Amino acid sequence: MERLVVESLNHSYGFTEILKDINFELNQGEVLSIVGPSGGGKTTLLHLCAGLLDVEEGEIKNSFQSSAFTFQEPRLLPWKNVIDNIALGLLAKGEDKNEALEKSQQIAIQFGLEKKDFQKFPKDLSGGMKQRVSFSRALVIKPSLLFLDEPFSALDIGLKQELQSHLIELIHQQALTILFITHDLMEAIRLSDRILLLKAEPGRIVKHFKYELPQMQRDNEYIYKESAKILLDKEIIETFELEFK
Ligand SMILES: Nc1ncnc2c1ncn2[C@@H]1O[C@H](COP(=O)(O)OP(=O)(O)O)[C@@H](O)[C@H]1O
Ligand SMILES: [Mg+2]
Repeated sequence: MERLVVESLNHSYGFTEILKDINFELNQGEVLSIVGPSGGGKTTLLHLCAGLLDVEEGEIKNSFQSSAFTFQEPRLLPWKNVIDNIALGLLAKGEDKNEALEKSQQIAIQFGLEKKDFQKFPKDLSGGMKQRVSFSRALVIKPSLLFLDEPFSALDIGLKQELQSHLIELIHQQALTILFITHDLMEAIRLSDRILLLKAEPGRIVKHFKYELPQMQRDNEYIYKESAKILLDKEIIETFELEFK
C-alpha cells in the first residue's frame, strides 16, 4: 500500500524554529487536512512532504507513485490556452496528443468549464475559472497523491462550494489520496477524513479530529454543526486565538 509517513520532523529557517516534532501518516485513499493559522508552517510542511524542500531533521517516507499540486494561485502558463494548460502533464508523460486533449476536455467539463472556454488564454479567465483549470491540470494525470495548498482561499463562498463538490465527486469516484493544507476549518470538515491541528511558533500538531461520514453524504447542515462543535474546542480556540476579549 502506498503511504506517506512523517517522523520526528523538525524544520527551521535560520534560527527560527518553524516545525517541531511533526509525526503523522497518510494512507492510500485518505483525505488528510492540516489546519492552522497563517504563518504557522503549513506550506513549509507541505513542501517538505512534496520534496520541494529538503528535510533537515527527521524523516519523510513517501511511497506514492506520482503526485500533483494545486496552490492558492493557479500558476497557469499564460501563452497556452485552457485545454493546452490542462494537457501539459499528460503530454510531458508522452501520452498521445489526441488522447491527452480528449481527457483534458473531459476533466475540464467535470470541473465546470464549458466548451466555449477551451480556447481561451489565462488573461481572459476569471479567478474562479483559472482555479478550475488548475484543478483539472492536477487531476487529469490521475496522481496517486494530490497536494493542495489553500486552493479555495481566493474564491467566494459559492465558487468554493462548487469546486469542493467537484473534488468530492472525484474523491468518491477515484478514491483520491489528498494532503490538504488550509486555515479554513469549515472546508477542512467538508473534505477530510482526518484533520490535524497545527499550532504555531513553533508549528506542532496538538490535536486530531476524525470524520467518518463519507464526504458525499455531508450536507451543509452537517458541516455547520461540526464547525460549531470544533469552534468550541479548547485547542482550536487557543490555536486560532479565538478568545473573545
Ligand atoms: N523561505 C523562507 N525563509 C525564511 N522564512 C520563511 C520562508 N518561508 C516561510 N518562512 C516563514 O516561516 C513561517 C511559516 O511559513 P509558512 O510555512 O508559509 O506558513 P503558512 O503556510 O502556515 O502560512 C512564517 O513565519 C514565514 O514567514
Ligand atoms: Mg501557506
